[in-house]
Parts: sequence; structure tokens; C-alpha cells
Amino acid sequence: MVNCKLITRIIGFIFFSAWLALPNLFGASYLSANERDSHHLVILGDPHIPGKYVAEKEKVISTINSWDDADMVVAVGDICEDLGTREEYDAVRQFFARLNKPFYPVTGNHDYLYEDQRSFKGTRVKASSSINKEKLRRFKEIFSLPDLKYSKKVGPYLLIFLSVDDLRSNFLAEISEGTLDWLRSELARHKTDPTIIFFHAPLQGTLLDYNANANRPNFVAQPEKKIRQLILQNSQVFLWLSGHTHTPATNESYASDINLYEKQVTNIHNCDMNRETIWTNSLYLFPNRVLVKTFDHKKGAWMNHLQRTLIPPSTKSP
Ligand SMILES: [Fe+2]
Repeated sequence: MVNCKLITRIIGFIFFSAWLALPNLFGASYLSANERDSHHLVILGDPHIPGKYVAEKEKVISTINSWDDADMVVAVGDICEDLGTREEYDAVRQFFARLNKPFYPVTGNHDYLYEDQRSFKGTRVKASSSINKEKLRRFKEIFSLPDLKYSKKVGPYLLIFLSVDDLRSNFLAEISEGTLDWLRSELARHKTDPTIIFFHAPLQGTLLDYNANANRPNFVAQPEKKIRQLILQNSQVFLWLSGHTHTPATNESYASDINLYEKQVTNIHNCDMNRETIWTNSLYLFPNRVLVKTFDHKKGAWMNHLQRTLIPPSTKSP
């Protein structure tokens, strides 16, 4: 009888210990954001839905759903596979209905820039501005967004979500004059808030020239000169999160000194999801630092060698 009680207690202790260890095993914490001193944002690089590797993409959503400490999910554009057709947007709606976290998307070129049909040569055709507008409206409606550009305070941080929305651009990722004006006033209103910007394309020069696209005008945030000027005038901006270049976590410049723009802003590059191995970046926003971690969803493991800590400007010593 005594032995039976003892065995029951031992088994109970083993289960209890395993339950306590679960958060560490899966990179999660069961404390709410109010109880923790950090907020966890998960960043999806270009999802390109439905696209390729649908099962792998769905597994990413299940994994993120299982992270009890994940407070928000952000997608940095190219939510649609290719042309932003009604069928693609229907697939997008169904795909993200499975996500049980608050979702903060911005547009990429594939969400609004092209005609529904490719040319007879198989190339994408830039659509008229009325079609661009209709696809942007569709994006806003599907995700019930107040606008294509919006901001949110999380702890001491200002998060700015910028969509690619120019209707007459020669480039693939340009914000309109109206959005640039909004960004200017938003930054002016929050001069002392450490600021993180989410946009489809990276800042110029934050990657090595590792292929024919990196750092080229179509593959950086446009209008490049105006964005540079605005960033230099607003020293509170210290992080920029981008997709567009599909830079894999195995690339030399994925997490490197070259990511630092104008000695001020660190560009965090996020790889697309159209591949067998999908990586997501996680931002842990602490009051005085931001921890960046990369998760390999194929291995189900954090990539410790890519971990970075960024110090927001307001807490840096003068
Ligand atoms: Fe993309």
C-alpha cells in the first residue's frame, strides 16, 4: 500500500516536472504579457499564399498558435502568392483564419501591383491604378484594417506598419506621398518613443550584394532618398523589419554588421515562406532591449547563433 502511494507520488512529480519544463522546451512561457516583462512578436516573411509548401506553411501557423507567449504576428507583405487575384485572396482568408493570435499585415508588390492575368509571354503585367486601388481595398477589407498604414504602442515602443501603396511607381516597393506624409507626422508626434518600422522592402545597403537583386532600386524601400532623410531626422527609429528579398537564414548577410543602416537602424531581414525550411523571427520587446531570435520550423529549434540584442536609442548612454 505504502509502495503504491510512493509510486503514485513519484509519477505525479515526474509529470509536474515535465509540465514545468514544457515552456523551455518549446520556447514559450505561460505567463501573460502583463505578468511578463516582455512582449513577443512573431514575424512572417512573405507568405505567398497559397504558393508552394502549403503543409509546411500550415505547420508554422500551428506552431505559433502553440506558443502561449506569442502576443502578435506580423507579416511583412506578399501575403498573396503572385497576382492578388480573388482566388488568392480567398486562400489568404482561409489560411489566416487558422491563426489564433492578433495579426498585423502590410502589403507587398504581389498583393496589389499586377493584373490578374500574366502576359502571353508569361510575365507579370503592372495593372492600372484603378486595379491597384481595388486590390489595396481588398487587402484592407480581408484583414479588417483601419487603414493600410497604422501604428500601435507596445510598452515603450512605437510600432509603425507601412504598406507598399504607390500607384504610379517605377519600382516594386514604394510608399505613396500620402503615406510618407503620414509617416513624417507620426514620427514627429512620437519623438521620444523608440520606434520599429515594418515594411515590405529593406533599407538600401543592408545586405551584401549576394545576388542580382540585393540593394538594387527594385529591392529597397522607395523613395529611397526621402526615407533616408526621414530616418536621419528621427533618431528614435532603430529597427526596420523587411521581407521582399527572400533572404534565407543561411545567407551570410541575414544577421550581420551590414544590416546596420546609417549607424542608426538595424534591418532585420525575414525570409519568404515558399520553401521547405521556413524560418520566422521573433522579437521580444523588453523595456530596455529587444531580443531577436530565429526559429527553424523544419527542425523545430531556435538558431542560437543568430540571436541578437538591440538597445533602443532612449536607453543608450549619451
Ligand atoms: Fe515575395
